[in-house]
Amino acid sequence: MSYEKFQSHWQNSRFAALGAAFPVTVAPMVGLSHVAFRHMVRHYTPEGLNPLLFTEMLSTRRLPFERIDRVDELRVMDQESHFVPQLLGNEESYIARSIEKLMPLEPWGFDINMGCPARQHLKHNWGVRLLGDPEYAASIVGMTRRYSSRPVSVKMRCGQDKADPDFLVRFTDGLEAAGADWLTIHARTQSQKHKGEADWSLVTDLIPRRGIPIVVNGDIQTADDALHLLQDVQVDGIMIGRAATARPWIIWQIAHRLGYTTPPAAFPGQTPPETPEEEGRAFLDAMVLYCELLDQYFDDDEKKLRRLRFHVINACKWLVFGHSYYSHCMKSKTLAEVKAMTLHSRDTYHFPMTRRINLL
Ligand SMILES: Cc1cc2nc3c(=O)[nH]c(=O)nc-3n(C[C@H](O)[C@H](O)[C@H](O)COP(=O)(O)O)c2cc1C
Repeated sequence: MSYEKFQSHWQNSRFAALGAAFPVTVAPMVGLSHVAFRHMVRHYTPEGLNPLLFTEMLSTRRLPFERIDRVDELRVMDQESHFVPQLLGNEESYIARSIEKLMPLEPWGFDINMGCPARQHLKHNWGVRLLGDPEYAASIVGMTRRYSSRPVSVKMRCGQDKADPDFLVRFTDGLEAAGADWLTIHARTQSQKHKGEADWSLVTDLIPRRGIPIVVNGDIQTADDALHLLQDVQVDGIMIGRAATARPWIIWQIAHRLGYTTPPAAFPGQTPPETPEEEGRAFLDAMVLYCELLDQYFDDDEKKLRRLRFHVINACKWLVFGHSYYSHCMKSKTLAEVKAMTLHSRDTYHFPMTRRINLL
């Protein structure tokens, strides 16, 4: 498909009609999707694309009592506009006050978490527990809609113990009727957690049955996966999770393959890393940048190191010999040590990047 053909298809799409600027989004991930990560993804994203990047989930019970300038999870980039805070909770007054608290940050929209399987959230009827009560879930969309002047979305899984296409239609009927502007569906069930292959067909079969954009999530690891869903299946949009920790340039790769020739501002005249060797080298460059961004946005040295390690433990699964880089990160006592070790590794070792892995 030429870029002109893609653009005309995209401009007539229902996700673009809602105001999205590009059909690729990046997932909310606790401990990962903070401002330093979003900055890194934007650093590798071609100018003008403005993909929607999610924050990690934010508790609506806590938000009303927090100072937005003091909480790490609420930091945003200077003039960051295309980000979506994800809300976790189900009480109207807390949701209303959380939205009010976040509005000065100028989010693009608000998302409601209906996918988190963590036990401490299930007992409050938050997260994936909402799949068990479709009417209640719809009422949370309704109450969020009442207080939000921005698009409201839901991120959910495709089932609890087993995927049931009829249930998915019934459940999303309620969300759409209650005013959801778009949905992201993680094509794994609650019992699958984050493991194994996602069954995209569960979501793609739903798309023609819905009047709102449906974004497919789960196990999208490469530009090939993205192009398959965007061009062959013609989904409304896709959401990339863990693969973006390893290849923060994946949106550049996708845009480039779609024929978009403008590179990111930091890479004039260049094309995205493509071969396993190029991606492996680029990963170490990205980790140097990531150390600098963690320093730029956060104050607490221990937390910076914890964030770096958590990022690397997720990302290094794609690197051949990634465990050796990870164990160096674990041994380093400061971010400065990680940065020095990464600069040394960049000149000394090669960690080629695997295209697809079996996600565990
Ligand atoms: C460490 C981690 C934290 C996550 N935190 C959230 C979260 O805060 N909210 C949410 O809706 N999903 C969360 N998820 C799920 C992801 O958003 C995404 O649905 C999942 O990783 C599947 O996409 P992937 O296979 O591309 O990684 C998290 C996943 C991981 C691995």
